[in-house]
Amino acid sequence: MKAVLALDQGTTSSRAIAFGHDGRILASAQQEFRQIFPRPGWVEHDALEIWSTQRDVAALALGRAGLSAGEISAIGITNQRETTVLWDRRTGAPVANAIVWQDRRTASACDALRQAGHERLFAERTGLVLDAYFSGTKLAWLLDNVPGARERAERGELAFGTVDTWLAWNLSGGAVHVTDVSNASRTLLFDIHALAWDEELLGLLRIPPQVLPKVIDSSGIVARTRCEGLPEGLPVAGIAGDQQAALFGQACYTPGMAKNTYGTGCFMLMNTGTTAPASRNRLLTTVAWRKAGEVRYALEGSVFIAGAAIQWLRDGLGLIGKASEIDALAASVPDAGGVHFVPALSGLGAPYWDPRARGTIVGITRGTTRAHLARATLASIAFQSAELLEAMTADCGLPLKELRVDGGATASDLLMQTQADLLGVPVVRPKVVETTALGAAYLAGLATGFWKDEAEIASLWARDRVFEPTRSREEAGRHLAEWKRAVERSRDWARD
Ligand code: G3P
Repeated sequence: MKAVLALDQGTTSSRAIAFGHDGRILASAQQEFRQIFPRPGWVEHDALEIWSTQRDVAALALGRAGLSAGEISAIGITNQRETTVLWDRRTGAPVANAIVWQDRRTASACDALRQAGHERLFAERTGLVLDAYFSGTKLAWLLDNVPGARERAERGELAFGTVDTWLAWNLSGGAVHVTDVSNASRTLLFDIHALAWDEELLGLLRIPPQVLPKVIDSSGIVARTRCEGLPEGLPVAGIAGDQQAALFGQACYTPGMAKNTYGTGCFMLMNTGTTAPASRNRLLTTVAWRKAGEVRYALEGSVFIAGAAIQWLRDGLGLIGKASEIDALAASVPDAGGVHFVPALSGLGAPYWDPRARGTIVGITRGTTRAHLARATLASIAFQSAELLEAMTADCGLPLKELRVDGGATASDLLMQTQADLLGVPVVRPKVVETTALGAAYLAGLATGFWKDEAEIASLWARDRVFEPTRSREEAGRHLAEWKRAVERSRDWARD
């Protein structure tokens, strides 16, 4: 056996990466797919496109690596979380577009649940806040708004899944309807202590239990491939939500270790071991993974827009031609010239949880240039992450020793240095920054014996560069306070 293939189904692209035994990339392939914005605040994907792009890049990566079926030990799946798919069990056809995690259409449904006094119950059982981010209210919306869906669901004809479920279903030719614990923990329907779907929450959201997938471990053979375009019989042996997979790929196995992933959004997770501590600072408690029946939890800070803000500069404003141009443009000025950009393009996540916040740029003068805006955009990613770390430190009472980082935007040295300066802790970039895919590969490869144990994996983790803080805490504090003033300007802006 030469490799494990990771399928990394993200918010803006489907990727597949083949990893060798030393954790290095053998080959990869990537394809972007359509983002559908039917109304302000709504974000959808075509689930069939998710599947076809994912299958195509998987085949492409295998071809590029020159791997035959017999050389692939396992397939691991990792995915954009919370995005909600509902399909016909018989035909496999989705009943509507998938509702993406960034979609805010169910904000008022969450308000109603809050006003009815259910916030605490949801928090205690699921570790989540009542926000449109999670799958539960999205699924309820589909059942209520797609003609005939509720009746069909009650007759047992429809299957619900997050993207992992949808991929496992398609990879196996419809043989399995499963989700792993880490993905289940993002639905608002799953009791993270009992590790089971919760009847009371299902009742409150009016979800018929017949639509739910079976919940499984994050590591273990769950299906064999049986689909067009891929070799038959490959074991699908690991599944985890992308942020939990990144925590695993960063070898954060000891409680207190944390990582931040800079993707479409920014997600900071800290391993909390076998305990699921309730956050006092509006972070989430979530399942990190379950292996051989043993569960690990994490505290999570979720920021909705990070790399997506750079994408918006490119596609929305045409300010840059390629995302990678932002670094040079931002570095052409010494600072943002007093400009702050709060990229609340789909509301604000942790620690504000304000679905009605909207993107705001403050501090513009006649001297402001596109370079200042580029610099303010990079800084906004670092500021949002700094607020997550502030909440996390307050929650666990211990200062973090270092922050491991990954994801595409970590290529920006300027962003990483800004981040270290704001946090006041070393920011450590590993050699392989594709840790999301790597984590999924590790979870799958552990199940098939390609890797032995976590100790072996931890020994493969290697640092590329450490960014040490260079600013005084006073200066960082002043900057953060100014940022928070800008955030206040962005809040509670949209009206239903
Ligand atoms: O919770 C949403 C998250 O899983 C999306 O991740 O990598 O697509 O930004 P990403």
